[in-house]
Amino acid sequence: KLLQANDELTKLQLRLEQKVGDAIKQIRQQDHMIIRQSRQVAMGELMNNVAHHWRQPLAAVGVIVQDIQDAFHADELNEKYLEESVNEAMKQLQQMSKTITDISELFITTKVERSFNVKEEIEKMIQILSQNFKANDINTYLDCEEGCTILGYPHEFAQVVFNILTNAKEIIVQRECKERSIFLKISNENKRCRIIIEDTAGGIDDELIDKIFEPYFSTKENLIGTGLGLYMSKMIIEKNMKGSLSVQNTEKGAAFTIEITTN
Ligand SMILES: Nc1ncnc2c1ncn2[C@@H]1O[C@H](COP(=O)(O)OP(=O)(O)OP(=O)(O)O)[C@@H](O)[C@H]1O
Ligand SMILES: [Mg+2]
Repeated sequence: KLLQANDELTKLQLRLEQKVGDAIKQIRQQDHMIIRQSRQVAMGELMNNVAHHWRQPLAAVGVIVQDIQDAFHADELNEKYLEESVNEAMKQLQQMSKTITDISELFITTKVERSFNVKEEIEKMIQILSQNFKANDINTYLDCEEGCTILGYPHEFAQVVFNILTNAKEIIVQRECKERSIFLKISNENKRCRIIIEDTAGGIDDELIDKIFEPYFSTKENLIGTGLGLYMSKMIIEKNMKGSLSVQNTEKGAAFTIEITTN
C-alpha cells in the first residue's frame, strides 16, 4: 500500500512539474511578445523621428538641385557656383546620414546578457571620445572604485555613457564655458553600483529638467539633436537593466546618476 501511494505521489509530482514547466514556457512566450512589441513601438517612434528630421534637409537638397538647373539655363553656372551648391548639399546629406547612423546604432546590438566590468566600458567610451574632447578643450576625470561588475548589456550600457558624455560636451561647447571638465565617479555600495557623470556647463533650466528624458525633447538647433539620446538611455538602464537613471543640478552643472545592482 505504501509503495502504491509512493508511486502515485511520484506521478503527481511529475505531472505538477510538467504543469509548472508549461506555465513558465507560456510566460516566456508572453515576455518575448511584449519585448517584440515594445521594440516595434520604439522602432516606430524612431522612424517617425527620422521622417521628422529628414523633411527639412530633403527639401533643402531639392532646392539646391533646382537652383543648379535654373543657373544653367540662365547661363550663371560656373565652377564656383557648382562647388558651393555641392558643398551645401553634402552638408545636408551628411546630417541625414547622421540621423540614420545614430538611430540604427541603437538597434545593432547583440541582446545577450552578460557580466561586464563598469570601469572597463566607461574607459572604452572615454577613449573613443578622447580626440573629440581634446579638440574641444575638454578634460575628463575618472574617480573609480574597483570591482563594479554588472550583469546586463555592455554595448547598450556603453551607449548610455556615450549619450551622457556627448551631451555634456555639446553643452559645454554650446555655452562656451570657461571651465570645461567632466567628472566621472564610480562607487560600489551595498551591492549597488553608482555612476555619477557631472559636467561644468551650468546645469539644466528648472522648467526643462522634467522634460529631458522625453522622446524628441531637444534644445539643440539646426537639426543636430534628435532628442532621443536620454530617452533611449533611460529605457536601456531602467527597462533592460532594472536600474535607475536620474539627473540633478549641482553647483557646477548637471549630474547624471546611474544606479544598477551588481552581481
Ligand atoms: N549635461 C547637460 N546639461 C544641460 N542640459 C542638458 C545636458 N544633457 C542634456 N541636456 C538637455 O536635454 C536635452 C535632451 O538631451 P538628449 O540627449 O535626449 O537629446 P539631444 O542631445 O538634444 O539630441 P540627441 O538625440 O542627438 O542626443 C538636450 O537638448 C539638452 O537641452
Ligand atoms: Mg544627446
